[in-house]
Formats: sequence, structure tokens, C-alpha cells
Amino acid sequence: MPLLDKFGRQITDLRISVTDRCNFRCVYCRSADPENYRPVDELLQWDELERLARVLLALGIRKVRVTGGEPMVRPGVEEFIARLKKLGVQDLSMTTNGQLVAERCHALIAAGLDRINISLDSLDPEKFERITRTRKFASVMAGIQAAQASSLRPVKVNAVLVRGINDDEVEAFARLARETGISMRFIEFMPLDADRHWSRDLVVPAAEVKRRIEALWELVPIAHERSETARKFAFADSPGEIGLIAPVTQPFCGFCSRIRITADGKMRTCLFSSEDHDLKPLLRGNASDQQLAAFIEERVMEKEEGHRINEPGFAQPSRTMVYIGG
Ligand code: 5AD
Ligand code: SF4
Repeated sequence: MPLLDKFGRQITDLRISVTDRCNFRCVYCRSADPENYRPVDELLQWDELERLARVLLALGIRKVRVTGGEPMVRPGVEEFIARLKKLGVQDLSMTTNGQLVAERCHALIAAGLDRINISLDSLDPEKFERITRTRKFASVMAGIQAAQASSLRPVKVNAVLVRGINDDEVEAFARLARETGISMRFIEFMPLDADRHWSRDLVVPAAEVKRRIEALWELVPIAHERSETARKFAFADSPGEIGLIAPVTQPFCGFCSRIRITADGKMRTCLFSSEDHDLKPLLRGNASDQQLAAFIEERVMEKEEGHRINEPGFAQPSRTMVYIGG
């Protein structure tokens, strides 16, 4: 039975946050002050996550992304990936800040990971440090190289652009894509930061990014699925790819195929949901798989039509990206 919402969208894409912890503290995500992490017993156990994944796969989920926080800081993530692969996930990916990728990329591949998205918000080590509030630039670059040298494909590198911080690096990121053959993705800053510094002035519109890259190199559009978040382009004269993700200036909610599970077992039908649906009582009570599936189907039916970032009275959700998972 496919998972459908009342707007006729089919949900095929699941993002599982396996931890709310992170070894970085990016300015567009976490607060400068340490947040309170949830007590570990509030997080779903691997067995509980596996059961949820199994129930969701039977409802038509085909793509699974493991995310966080930083998924690689939770011990046992490789084994969890192996369990997901065994369940039959066709398209299994991970979003990571890249710090631990160089040393563990082979274990991830052995576990069955198909592809990877690594965040990199600056090519300048000092600026990288200002954004992530860590000094791990070299480790992340090594992680990107290791991924690129491995069988993980495609390797995507995500940059969240924030006006006045890293918007001067658009061309440099595009050059990195050309030189390495990676898929470079530019993401508009969304109002999901803990310090609530987001404002429209800080958003660098995807159209500007495209214009600036096209001023240097010819771009050729690549076909994409309707539900994909990125508008993709190849270079006419070199390897590498550009992806523009424009949730603010060109919302793509109309064809959304995604739901999310937070590390503490809440289902979110939208990044900007004002309420989550707690699955823990069902998982820890004696609900059957059928009851769990019925609860999920009912809540997915009510999935939000879209975010309301561009509407008057928009309220930033109380959960930030580090809790929801990208
Ligand atoms: N706006 C846009 N993207 C964000 N991410 C984290 N916070 C934000 C935000 N406020 C991105 C990260 C990573 C993914 C998990 O989500 O850079 O690529
Ligand atoms: Fe950690 Fe990712 Fe948030 Fe940065 S964006 S603080 S790497 S969860």
C-alpha cells in the first residue's frame, strides 16, 4: 500500500535522524550556547529504528537517508546501515559533516551505503572555522577526497549560503565541482537556525547563484524527478555538476515525497511542521506493526501542503535542523 497524503503526493523518501548530537556547531543550525542534548534513553534504539524502517518500506518507501545531528557520532551507525540494506533499501544515503568520513568510508560502503552528502560551507579554513565553530577543515576535505576515490556515487557536497558570510565563494565552489567532478549543491538558508538570526536578507537566491556561475561557464540543465529538491546542471565543457536548492525563493513542496523521523522517535511530515507525531508510545507499548502502519498512514494523509516561509505571520518552528535532520 503506498503512503499518500490528501494532496495526492506519494511518500517514497524517508530521512532518519539517528542522533541529535553533533561535533560541529554550524551558525545556520545550532546555537552558540550548548543546547541540552536529549537523554540517551529518549532516543530510539537501533532495533526500534529498524522496525520503523521495515514498516515504512512495506508502505512504499524506496529511498532512505541517514542523518542527524551528525550520524557518524552515534556508535553503531555502520551496523544500522547494514540492517537497512538487508531490509532491501534500494537507495541508501547519508548526510554528514564529513569529519569522520575519511577513516570510516570503507566501513560505510561495506555496510551497503550507496551515496553520501557532505557539508562544506567554505573553502577558506578560517571562514570554515567561523561557520562550523570547529577547526576540522582539513578532515572534511580529506573526507570529500576519500568519498570521491571510493565507490560512493554520486558524492554531493552541500553548501548553505549565507549573505555576507560565504556568498563570495559561489564561483570557487563551482570551480571545485569542475576540478573534482563532484556534485556541488547550493542550499538557500532556511529559518531553522537555533539562534534565530535568519532573515530574508541573509538568503542568497538560487537565481543569483546560477547567474554568477553562468557568467563564467556554460551550464546545461539535467533532467530531474519532480520530487527532487535540486535543479541540476552539468558544465558544457567539463565534468562536475551544480545543484540549486531553493526552498525559500522557489519552493518545491508541491511534489514533496519526504517524511522524517527524529532521533527521539517523532515523525515529521514537513521540515516546518508545527507538530510532530510521537511514535515512541506505539513502539514501546504493545502496538502491532499494523497499528503502527495505520497511525503513520493517518498522519501522512494530513501532511502539510507546504511551508509558509513566504506568507505573512510565518512562525519559525521550535525544532532546529540539528534536531530534525536534513
Ligand atoms: N538552512 C539550510 N540548510 C541547512 N542545513 C542545516 N541548517 C540549515 C538551514 N538553516 C543543512 C546542512 C546540511 C543538511 C543536513 O542541512 O548544511 O547540508
Ligand atoms: Fe552539525 Fe550539520 Fe548542524 Fe552543522 S549543520 S551543526 S554539521 S548538524
